[in-house]
Amino acid sequence: MTVPAGGLAGSSSPLDSTEAARPANGTPVLEAAGLTVYHGQLRALDSISLRVYPGEVYAIIGANGAGKSTLLRTIAGLHHATTGSVLLEGADVTGLRPERRARLGIVMVPEGRRLFGSLSVEENLKVGATYARRGPWTIERVYETFEWMRDRRDQQTAQLSGGEQQTVAIGRALVANPRVLLLDELSLGLAPVVVQRIYAMLPHILETGLTVLLVEQDVSQALRVATHLQCLLEGRTTLEGRPDEVTADQVEAAYFGLAGTASIPREGSESS
Ligand SMILES: Nc1ncnc2c1ncn2[C@@H]1O[C@H](COP(=O)(O)OP(=O)(O)O)[C@@H](O)[C@H]1O
Ligand SMILES: [Mg+2]
Repeated sequence: MTVPAGGLAGSSSPLDSTEAARPANGTPVLEAAGLTVYHGQLRALDSISLRVYPGEVYAIIGANGAGKSTLLRTIAGLHHATTGSVLLEGADVTGLRPERRARLGIVMVPEGRRLFGSLSVEENLKVGATYARRGPWTIERVYETFEWMRDRRDQQTAQLSGGEQQTVAIGRALVANPRVLLLDELSLGLAPVVVQRIYAMLPHILETGLTVLLVEQDVSQALRVATHLQCLLEGRTTLEGRPDEVTADQVEAAYFGLAGTASIPREGSESS
């Protein structure tokens, strides 16, 4: 685990320094190297790097506006990076269009679900199969995993609850048979109990050989499921490590950008 000095140092050193502590099984499934992305004048990502290894649940946390969605969307090919590259199992996909990346196995569940509300559950799942790779996930397998969905497959998704819609959005991504599944804030707008139920499906996903890169504003939820953690603040990496290596204080400092004020004594805790 590394907290860059001042919390705002570049992101290459954290990666290098944690390499030995990680279960690095050879080539990362997904690697982002030095991604810088602008929205107009705004530098939304400033040289962000990450390496996601097979079977990991890699969580990106950070406050609203930190650049989390921009990072996922850039990896999916929906934003152009002015510098940096995206590698899928060692192959450079930086120049490829989103559909091509999906076909190769980079599949995203976007923030806000983005289902076709007027289409049925099954029609939405079929959309997901459009750019599908071969693999274990089929619409039938989705129904086996989420049994309620079979009974309601002809229902318009707009009529489903938020949690049900989120599950359909996950199912739609799964039928594409991702190598790496990008999940953007599954918890958005959902009650805590619903969020926990949705995250409870992660083991079913991982057992089919998938790797997960997720984004969460809900830090405690991210800490519960993540095998690896990276915190963004204003487009930069402020913390990176395994959840069991980081303290709550470090996460809080990285999340809110308080790293430089760590020496200020706080009630009930002794800081160093
Ligand atoms: N399409 C866009 N056009 C202009 N600015 C954007 C766009 N998307 C995001 N931004 C800005 O980029 C920054 C990062 O946004 P985003 O990646 O959505 O953050 P997060 O997902 O962490 O909340 C924010 O300041 C946001 O306002
Ligand atoms: Mg976002």
